[in-house]
Amino acid sequence: MDSQDAGERIRRAAIVWKGGKIVWVGSEDELPTGLDDEIEFDANKNMVVPGLIDCHTHLAFGGWRADEFGQRAMGASYLEIARKGGGIKSTVAQTRAASSDTLVNRCLEFLKEINKLGVTTIECKSGYGLSTADEIKLLNVYDKVRRLQRVRMVSTFLGAHVVPDEFESNPDAYVDLIIEEMLPTISEKGLASFCDVFLEDGAFNLDRSKKILEAAKKLGMRPKLHADQLSDGGGANLAAEVDAISADHLEHTSREGIRAMARAGVVAVSLPIATLYLRQPPLNARDFIEEGARVAVATDFNPGSAPSYHLPLALTLACTMNRMTPEEALKGATLFAAHAIGMSRTIGSIEIGKQADFTLVAADSVDQWFYHFVPTCVTQTYINGDTL
Ligand code: NIG
Ligand code: FE
Repeated sequence: MDSQDAGERIRRAAIVWKGGKIVWVGSEDELPTGLDDEIEFDANKNMVVPGLIDCHTHLAFGGWRADEFGQRAMGASYLEIARKGGGIKSTVAQTRAASSDTLVNRCLEFLKEINKLGVTTIECKSGYGLSTADEIKLLNVYDKVRRLQRVRMVSTFLGAHVVPDEFESNPDAYVDLIIEEMLPTISEKGLASFCDVFLEDGAFNLDRSKKILEAAKKLGMRPKLHADQLSDGGGANLAAEVDAISADHLEHTSREGIRAMARAGVVAVSLPIATLYLRQPPLNARDFIEEGARVAVATDFNPGSAPSYHLPLALTLACTMNRMTPEEALKGATLFAAHAIGMSRTIGSIEIGKQADFTLVAADSVDQWFYHFVPTCVTQTYINGDTL
């Protein structure tokens, strides 16, 4: 069976860090003299794993959409709800109406809880503004939140989430606005590292998605894609073509699309909480792994398709729904998640030279952690070598 090499497990391990970076890791018995007085903490019987990375969230949004939850239970589809004015557009209205301070405070509250689940780095998308000013407002919220707490944050511009009502009769004019105004402004202000597009019926088609992602690339923003979530829209192939750093969702991706992604080195991000809430057929990670693709796992936290920021829950679901082993799932929320946000040189594993980001887990094994689901097993997190 092909598998995602899980990385080495060390029993009775020691980790030494200085200035926020790891300077030594190995078996405690082999700890070189001279480094032993640097040890700050005895983890007792806890497992120490790399700090978890949630590489796909929509953290800043106004309001909730709990009403849609029951509607979907009665058979209304995600797209039907969207067509009736619910869905993403309803969150856009609530987000536009919210002040920056309100959004900052919500993000801070979420992050406090998210960090307790072992998350030390998070990717945050805009996409509920959909005007130049409102998209910039959201990205500025992330910048402010970044300065007010310690979970590492990386921002993604998702102006191409859906076409806002103002442009309903002329979607191409909205694409032009993104390319001619939003992207250059955001790039100039250095507000986002990545540019994402929702490629789907009712959102952006292939041509428009490609145009936007090519324009972003020219400005130094690496493409990402919400691809093949509700239908096979050729998203995986487009991700390969535009050299996207990741393609996310992928419930309906064809084998050929998987191959294209694997060849191009695009990280496949599974979002099993969204798969579960929208009752989509889960992606089979075995197919991706067999073809040589790296599979990351994230929450997709947002008020519609994935109203939970519980990354360990996503990892349990990755095992049950996506057929990942617990160790593959953990690698999907650490090293491969770091790849999905272009940070694998500095975070994602416990290696000399990387940042000292760790999560301490009160479980005997990774298997036990994801198999026996409890609210949280995490006892402590370290970011840059410090507890919060
Ligand atoms: O990743 N698919 C598009 N965007 C989000 C859902 C956003 C929403 O429903 O508000 C997702 O599933
Ligand atoms: Fe998403």
